[in-house]
Amino acid sequence: MSDTNGKLASRLYPSHIDIPANVRSQVVTLLNQTLAATADLKSQVKQAHWNVKGKDFYQLHEMFDEIAAEVEEYIDMVAERVTALAGYACGTVRMAAADSILPEYPTDILSGEEHVTALVERFAAYAKHLRTAIDKADELNDQDTNDLYVEISRTIDKRLWFLEAHIQVSEVKSEGMVKEKASVN
Ligand SMILES: [Fe+2]
Repeated sequence: MSDTNGKLASRLYPSHIDIPANVRSQVVTLLNQTLAATADLKSQVKQAHWNVKGKDFYQLHEMFDEIAAEVEEYIDMVAERVTALAGYACGTVRMAAADSILPEYPTDILSGEEHVTALVERFAAYAKHLRTAIDKADELNDQDTNDLYVEISRTIDKRLWFLEAHIQVSEVKSEGMVKEKASVN
């Protein structure tokens, strides 16, 4: 957690909710980390949506926008879980930049394959963060937050598949797996 968001990310308001403050403080800190990563991810998918070039431009431009809209919904759901727990949502662009686990989006890429590869790396890192968060929310016995993480995680795994399906043919060919399979048949 950055100095900017450190205290804000765990801040709690008084609440009648029946989850102890020490648990809520840990959960909202976790959720604020996810909020930063989710906002960053959405902005990076939009970056791909705007800047992709090449023969697959239109379908990738459309798919990236569809994914960005889905991720945007999760920004709101994560932020509102923070506030439901009487926490403070660290939701500005600067707050996201200070605390995101994702690397900055590369500015020297052009083709569809390069943009898909950059997004695959980021979706994989985000998916890993979500799976860790599923376990943490479970350990803290906040099953509503756990359920939110499970929902997001399932969709992100699906989107990782959608993205990877664009580049797996060349990866499989370069690893010789297609050849091996062909020789078996
Ligand atoms: Fe657009």
